[in-house]
Amino acid sequence: MPADTFEGLKSKILQRTARTSVVGLGYVGLPLAVLEAQAGFTVTGIENNAGRAASINSGKSYIEDVPDAELGPLVKNGKLRASGDFAEIADVDVVSICVPTPLDRNKVPDNSFVRYVADQSQQYWRPGQLIVLESTTYPGATEEAIVPRLEAKGLKVGRDVFVAFSPERIDPGNVNFPVRDVPRVVGGVTPQCTELAHAFYKQILRADVMPLSSPRVAEMAKLFENTFRVVNVSLVNELAQVCERMGIDVWEVIEAAKTKPYGFMPFYPGPGVGGHCIPVDPFFLSWKVLALLEDKGSRQALGEEGLKLVGSRYSWEHVAEALEAHYVRLASV
Ligand SMILES: NC(=O)c1ccc[n+]([C@@H]2O[C@H](COP(=O)([O-])OP(=O)(O)OC[C@H]3O[C@@H](n4cnc5c(N)ncnc54)[C@H](O)[C@@H]3O)[C@@H](O)[C@H]2O)c1
Repeated sequence: MPADTFEGLKSKILQRTARTSVVGLGYVGLPLAVLEAQAGFTVTGIENNAGRAASINSGKSYIEDVPDAELGPLVKNGKLRASGDFAEIADVDVVSICVPTPLDRNKVPDNSFVRYVADQSQQYWRPGQLIVLESTTYPGATEEAIVPRLEAKGLKVGRDVFVAFSPERIDPGNVNFPVRDVPRVVGGVTPQCTELAHAFYKQILRADVMPLSSPRVAEMAKLFENTFRVVNVSLVNELAQVCERMGIDVWEVIEAAKTKPYGFMPFYPGPGVGGHCIPVDPFFLSWKVLALLEDKGSRQALGEEGLKLVGSRYSWEHVAEALEAHYVRLASV
């Protein structure tokens, strides 16, 4: 019977007959729902903003990366619809969770959206489902939020139900890297979970999908990616200020440095550290590190501030001027 559960779900995924659900139809969830529907899956989005759900059901997108011309036909053909009712979860085979994961006012991860979704879904979870968290979070969060609620129902992960984490890497508005072409990583709680999540993303993406050994590795990979960006954008913002004082053109410095074919990657000065994820995500890591040290009674070892992040002190006006000058110069070349 357990083998049947796994094989049955795998076969539905490979044949694209699985019914899927995306919970939270925002910047991450709506493009994902569209990709799934375009791949042939029948998708029910769960969206608690009634206005957004109604908009989708009338074929109107509110996300820049999803044009009406793509959404409309999927809705019309019955491949994609939105609902506010968690009971829909009972009828689907694959559930992707894409709700917000903000920080609270003390910069502590607020997992309440994920917990809420897990609480609302729990009664509808059943054998033969794959549940994937895509929301950015700290290492261990997928297992903490989902596995105990499944076990409380007597469902064994890796045998009856399958759980994985796969971080979204979408860069809203970036036409050079559509979601379908951005490589993915997936980490399941067991090898069976990873295999199913890997099979699922292979159906909807053109890009490679890399299987990982656990959700924690995937969660940490996402935090590493965005912490890497924070550190390097912060560095170049600091460098820009130093260059300005020294009468050196920072853009020329970057162009020069990037001729080195290894060990260097260009980052460019900008307002703050950019985006709404990049400045936030490193705090998931620093919070987790501090929690770990507190467990061991050695918080002092890291200092009270955790990972100290260097933000830009550039004013918006200054950055706008610098960017304008840079692009005018490029345009005139
Ligand atoms: N936007 C990005 O560029 C980006 C990139 C990578 C990862 N992420 C991560 O993906 C996650 C989602 O981010 P986003 O930008 O899509 O957020 P968003 O605010 O654009 O979308 C979230 C959606 O979830 C809905 N929602 C909230 N609670 C819900 C509930 N209980 N039930 C159903 N729907 C609910 C909201 O109404 C909204 O439509 C976050 O963890 C974020 O850090 C975002």
